[in-house]
Amino acid sequence: MLVLGIESSCDETGAAVVTGDGEVLSDVVHSQVRLHAPYGGVVPELASRDHLRNARAVVIEALRVAGQPMESVDVIAVTNRPGLVGALLVGVQFAKGVAWAAHKPLVGVDHLMGHLLSVFLRRAPRESGRAPAFPYVCLLASGGHTALYRVDGPTPEAVTELGATRDDAAGEAFDKVGKLLGLGYPGGPIIDRMAQAGDAGRVPFSIPMAAKSSLEFSFSGIKTQVAQRVAREGVPEGRALTDLCASFQAAVTGTLAQKLDAAVRREGVGHAVLGGGVAANAELRRRVASLAEAGGYEAHLPSLSSCTDNAAMIAYAGAARFLAGAPDGLELVSTSATALPRKTRKGGGRR
Ligand code: KG4
Ligand code: ZN
Repeated sequence: MLVLGIESSCDETGAAVVTGDGEVLSDVVHSQVRLHAPYGGVVPELASRDHLRNARAVVIEALRVAGQPMESVDVIAVTNRPGLVGALLVGVQFAKGVAWAAHKPLVGVDHLMGHLLSVFLRRAPRESGRAPAFPYVCLLASGGHTALYRVDGPTPEAVTELGATRDDAAGEAFDKVGKLLGLGYPGGPIIDRMAQAGDAGRVPFSIPMAAKSSLEFSFSGIKTQVAQRVAREGVPEGRALTDLCASFQAAVTGTLAQKLDAAVRREGVGHAVLGGGVAANAELRRRVASLAEAGGYEAHLPSLSSCTDNAAMIAYAGAARFLAGAPDGLELVSTSATALPRKTRKGGGRR
């Protein structure tokens, strides 16, 4: 089975051709980072317009790189939730047009499902490491979401939220701190790079929800701690700047890794999985790998291009959804909310 995936939920226009079992034949991503950089964050209206400009070109390029004509595609999968509604609409309407013109079935995919399953993608040259077995626990940490999920199968009905952030997402904290420190946008990869030269023990940060017994996160407080420090002492330079980056990163990745570890143990599963842009962070990957080794379970760390937003993960999640049931029709709608059951506090559930 060949799936054409289309992604436009935020600031990446993506198209990919992936087989039903996760082999990536092409994965084209047009990033809007430079468009939004002057504003220090994504401007929704600019995002929609740029998706509109680029959707056709990325789809044509994805088919060309895969060496497959549209006739060979079996299913078209498109992100229809969650995300910026205007941005989602562009991808969804484009996918409907293609599906209608080429007489192909269409499936709507939840973007978070893409991140939860991105670990199954196999890119060329073939990724090393074994795919996890269900059930596994996934830490999904991106610019818009941060939560722990138990994943019993490849569809939303088989996913349980174990804990989520009460306020900012982890990637949002990286980006806001990057902005406060004048490092540019997005802050995550820049702080990751700067932190390598810094001493993580130099700046004390406190992290709320630190108790291991809770699987909830909170990242707005640490951003405020950085803001107060900058207001007091100005933006640090040189060694002091790299030390601050390293200390901030250690605090955030420490709590992420520790709660993933606690969730894996609590659920009694043998596999821990990372997903989302923050999963590209070198220190988080190191911490998760070493906790897994100590805990006797397997850590699965997707390649960096599978962690950040891409259409290959949407194609793969679309294949699973297509195989699990009926495709969507041309009445498919875009919405800002996820389809995943939200059981914890952030989702309006238990307090
Ligand atoms: O998954 P993603 O590409 O988009 C969303 O669905 O949000 O995640 C983007 C987020 C941004 O906040 C970015 O700063 C963060 O992932 N990010 C990182 C790294 N690479 C990307 N954060 C920390 N370290 C990184 N290496
Ligand atoms: Zn994402």
